[in-house]
Amino acid sequence: MERTADIYRDLERILVTREEIAEKVRELGQRIGQDYAGKNPVMVCILKGACVFFTDLIREIPLPLTTDFMAISSYGNATKTSGVVRILKDLDKDILGKDVIIVEDIVDTGITLNYLMKILIQRGASSLRIAALLDKTARRKVPDLHVDYVCFDIPDAFVVGYGLDYDQKYRNLPDIGILSPRIYNE
Ligand code: PRP
Repeated sequence: MERTADIYRDLERILVTREEIAEKVRELGQRIGQDYAGKNPVMVCILKGACVFFTDLIREIPLPLTTDFMAISSYGNATKTSGVVRILKDLDKDILGKDVIIVEDIVDTGITLNYLMKILIQRGASSLRIAALLDKTARRKVPDLHVDYVCFDIPDAFVVGYGLDYDQKYRNLPDIGILSPRIYNE
């Protein structure tokens, strides 16, 4: 998609280009490949935001991995999460004794992941790590949440693209941009 496409006009600016994303995703795939050499990790995509990152990332990991998908929603409204996560679609397979890598698009307060980690540990995963495309550390409310793999630390701005949405739109932008405030203020 050309960067002159109409939906790019809703951005204040591009924060991370598709080229920068591709380079980081490639590096991360190689790193995971080394860290999990000899293992068959289960890569878990947290829908929907992580779907674009996930499909690119798994193709950069040279291991006999498997994939699974979860859809979750936090109780509360868009700006305030309660810390309780509702599972809308659960994993298809049991993760007992498996090396699990959760793939997220963004860690914000960390409340969603913190809750999800507890659930997956209870199910007996033998190891559990997090791979996140973006980390907004400035917004963290769970200080002891350790995000093992991060592609980009970003400032506290409203970002869309490469899977991330506003009102379900912009997920198809190949770059990550800061949404123009006129879009969410109108
Ligand atoms: C986003 C993101 C994480 C969560 C992070 O999901 O994918 O799951 O919010 O926020 P937290 O760290 O403050 O808990 P979102 O609810 O936007 O759903 P989506 O992935 O379907 O877009």
